Amino acid sequence: MKLKQAIVITGAGQRIGLALAQHLIQQRPHPIVFTYRSLKPGVEQLLAAGAVGFQVDFNHPDAVKHLMPKLTEQVGSLRALIHNASLWWPDSAPDALQKQFDVHVRAPYELNQACLPLLQACQSEQKDIISISDARVSQGHPSKIAYLATKAALENMTLSFAQAFAPDVKVNAIAPALLTFHPQDSAAYRQARLDRLLLPMEPGAQVLCHAVDYLLDNPYTTGTILPLDGGSRLVGQRLDK
Ligand SMILES: NC(=O)c1ccc[n+]([C@@H]2O[C@H](COP(=O)([O-])OP(=O)(O)OC[C@H]3O[C@@H](n4cnc5c(N)ncnc54)[C@H](OP(=O)(O)O)[C@@H]3O)[C@@H](O)[C@H]2O)c1
Repeated sequence: MKLKQAIVITGAGQRIGLALAQHLIQQRPHPIVFTYRSLKPGVEQLLAAGAVGFQVDFNHPDAVKHLMPKLTEQVGSLRALIHNASLWWPDSAPDALQKQFDVHVRAPYELNQACLPLLQACQSEQKDIISISDARVSQGHPSKIAYLATKAALENMTLSFAQAFAPDVKVNAIAPALLTFHPQDSAAYRQARLDRLLLPMEPGAQVLCHAVDYLLDNPYTTGTILPLDGGSRLVGQRLDK
């Protein structure tokens, strides 16, 4: 018996993707299917919680081609596809542009097309594709040029796929600013990041889970890039109080 109305999340082995998968397992009736690149404790936790995992490296040129037969063997229909997998590399890293393009553009592009029949097969009234982008896309960054350019392409694909797949499937993106620090982030770096927010806090994965819930539940929203940014886009615009 194939899984019906499943939700697929890419890159769910750690941090935000892991928290989102755990949230959806707890809050939704849908089977949770996830991809992971490396075997980590988070992968074991999701498998133990009943999720179905597929090991995929989206930097492999045939990653989606190899994934789809395995996915369709176990999954009969999709309620949602969530593009969370991400590489956050500086431009000085080897092949930074190509590697991040593979993960942020090529894989979502191919997955959206390959998964459309599974989304259309879903009996649920609403079907969703949700991409996790980054609030810095609208501002740029001097050492994350490739990261932000490829996230910008992901946002742009959201507009086109929303038109291509309407009215069957809603297609949206979420553009977060700071969600969680990395353990190795220095106190000075943390303060600098907080200074770039109107709401200076490390909100954690929960706010992203809320944003995903909103998009999954709202029948009238497609083709949007939802800011989840603590007001970061307005810092510098504010007149002295
Ligand atoms: N955390 C934040 O504050 C923040 C802020 C703005 C936007 N975001 C966005 O939110 C999402 C989650 O962020 P995060 O901090 O949880 O990211 P993360 O810790 O870097 O995790 C990204 C996940 O993507 C997977 N991945 C990377 N390259 C891959 C590849 N080639 N093939 C398959 N999977 C691959 C990683 O697999 P491995 O486990 O094997 O490394 C990892 O599990 C990302 O889209 C990110 O851009 C996060």
